Amino acid sequence: MKSTAFQVRAVSVLDSQNLLDWRNHPDVLRHQLTQRAIHPFEHERWLSERLQPKGHLPFLAYEENGSVIGYVRLDFATNREQVISILISPSFRGQGYGAAILHSFLLHVRSIGNLEPIFAYVHNDNIPSQRLFRSSNFKEDKSERSEMKRFVYP
Ligand SMILES: CC(C)(COP(=O)(O)OP(=O)(O)OC[C@H]1O[C@@H](n2cnc3c(N)ncnc32)[C@H](O)[C@@H]1OP(=O)(O)O)[C@@H](O)C(=O)NCCC(=O)NCCS
Repeated sequence: MKSTAFQVRAVSVLDSQNLLDWRNHPDVLRHQLTQRAIHPFEHERWLSERLQPKGHLPFLAYEENGSVIGYVRLDFATNREQVISILISPSFRGQGYGAAILHSFLLHVRSIGNLEPIFAYVHNDNIPSQRLFRSSNFKEDKSERSEMKRFVYP
């Protein structure tokens, strides 16, 4: 696994463009249920709402040598499940950063006393993400949605 000596900080509005660009990257769009690019207005509205304090659910940026490598956040689903989302810069994918950042994030979440199960929803075609969650001790939950696999941690 990569070194975990990341600089970690809360996401801010300054991350908006990175988040939008990485989210709308063709490799990411293929694995979304709708496969539709997010419009900048929709993105700004979502981000400003997400950056409001939300029961202390973390939304963190991981940096190395001054470059943002990835973002990870937890959100509550409508049924109050905690759902994790991880996004690694297209320039840094496939180099072990996702595994290292996810490991660091999970340690942080547990260290702040959040011991609730963490769910991940992954498109059936998103092999890197499935591998990432499996090798990070997420278990596949058989009650999966049609086009998505559901994983749970621990
Ligand atoms: C999914 C994602 C977070 C993985 O991060 P990453 O830094 O590329 O992953 P890593 O290099 O740490 O590798 C993690 C696992 O994926 C595998 N992997 C990475 N890139 C791969 C590729 N292109 N094809 C197949 N497997 C791949 C690695 O071999 C590793 O598997 P292993 O643990 O069984 O050896 C990253 O690709 C990404 O940001 N994707 C877009 C957003 C997304 O899909 N997020 C997940 C849903 S929330």
